[in-house]
Amino acid sequence: MYPREEVSRRVDAFHEAYYYAGLWRNTTWMGVPAWKCPLDLWVYQEIIHQTRPTLIIECGTAHGGTALYMAHLFDTMGDTAKTSRIVSVDIAERPNMPRHPRIEYLLGSSTDESVVARVRERVRADDRVMVILDSLHSRDHVFAELRAYWAMVSPGCYLIVEDSNINGHPVWTDYEPDAGPGPFEAVADFMNENDRFEIDASRERFMMTFNPSGYLRRKA
Ligand SMILES: C[S@@+](CC[C@H](N)C(=O)[O-])C[C@H]1O[C@@H](n2cnc3c(N)ncnc32)[C@H](O)[C@@H]1O
Repeated sequence: MYPREEVSRRVDAFHEAYYYAGLWRNTTWMGVPAWKCPLDLWVYQEIIHQTRPTLIIECGTAHGGTALYMAHLFDTMGDTAKTSRIVSVDIAERPNMPRHPRIEYLLGSSTDESVVARVRERVRADDRVMVILDSLHSRDHVFAELRAYWAMVSPGCYLIVEDSNINGHPVWTDYEPDAGPGPFEAVADFMNENDRFEIDASRERFMMTFNPSGYLRRKA
């Protein structure tokens, strides 16, 4: 309908308007805040249904809305044995976090060695593991998370780096912990040193994603 550059310009303008309105803070799953773009949550559903992880590691829980969403996806997918589960890590506990038999919350920094070790203990030999990095969004923290967690991801499964849209891709943030080089730059540096993953741009096909270049698939 429009030339590619014009589509890109319009999508970026919508992305900026959407982001600066702070709508992601007012997005809920079953009444629980899920700090995500709904288009990305739909992509999560497609990835989880297609790749069938049995363990999802989420760094950065916030209110637990995304953890609950993924637990409900597992319920809907007919895992009656409840073997598929979510381990979610955050430095802060919030009131009224959703309780669900599939969700385990761990308290601590996602890059703290003892926390990484506790997460690794949860991985069973026959698990198919997916990892989501959605905690502190500085380049250095995300890069450290990538180094700490990539080996836990199973071949064919995804390592999702959230909020690579900040620092001008296309939005910016002046919120101090997130200002400056962020997840996008961490992914670029990680891809330069690790050849086990490919960026799956097909996961960006809904045009607007908070995770540009952030859907990494571990090669088979
Ligand atoms: C963007 S929010 C997570 C949103 C959540 N994944 C969701 O989808 O609703 C980022 C979270 O990371 C947490 N956080 C910040 N630094 C962290 C760290 N070093 N380790 C783990 N979590 C951290 C914050 O407390 C905050 O709850």
